[in-house]
Amino acid sequence: MKFFIDTANLSEIREAQDLGVLDGVTTNPSLMAKEGIKGKDSVFSHYKAICDIVDGDVSAEVIATDFQGIVREGEELVEIDNKIVVKVPMIKDGVKAIKYFTQRGIKTNCTLIFSAGQAILAAKAGATYVSPFIGRIDDIGGDGMELIEQLVLIFENYGFDTEILAASIRHVPHLLQCAEIGADVVTCPLNVIMGLLKHPLTDLGLEKFLADAKKM
Ligand code: E4P
Repeated sequence: MKFFIDTANLSEIREAQDLGVLDGVTTNPSLMAKEGIKGKDSVFSHYKAICDIVDGDVSAEVIATDFQGIVREGEELVEIDNKIVVKVPMIKDGVKAIKYFTQRGIKTNCTLIFSAGQAILAAKAGATYVSPFIGRIDDIGGDGMELIEQLVLIFENYGFDTEILAASIRHVPHLLQCAEIGADVVTCPLNVIMGLLKHPLTDLGLEKFLADAKKM
């Protein structure tokens, strides 16, 4: 199971990388804007800074929504660093662009996936990753985890190479359910990754061991 961090914050990315369990990073325009990154040059140098910290794939999202624009932006993004994966929205021109990138050996992450049908289309176009948004489905009263189950079954049925990148993960139980179901990748905020460390019995046990160590 791969762990990606879902942020554009460099210190959070460094902290996750330092833990030694990070496999990649996902960003989106909202996360970039949250860090105050504005203008093409700053955006590109920020992606480069992220790539310099991590060892794995770094998803950078296109803004264009037409085929030519998506292709143009994607081809510029992959020039930044060979860790860049072009993040493309689940729209008609996005699917066409994923096919185009796939034929040229460029990695893609199809974002904003909310149904199995959308994921099948992206997989057939050759997407490296599909990103189903669990939390946002839960937010509107649906069951995001059901979609992950459906995708694991469908992708196994046909042996799709596309990896299921569970996104919009809000808490530790989301991550654990993804692990049980068999999502290939989870992308989550730093607090969810660090949340895996915590157990009150570990804290109590350590406190006792340290107290007893003074009597040794
Ligand atoms: C995934 O690639 C997205 O960046 C992200 O997981 C969306 O999460 P949110 O629904 O918490 O904004």
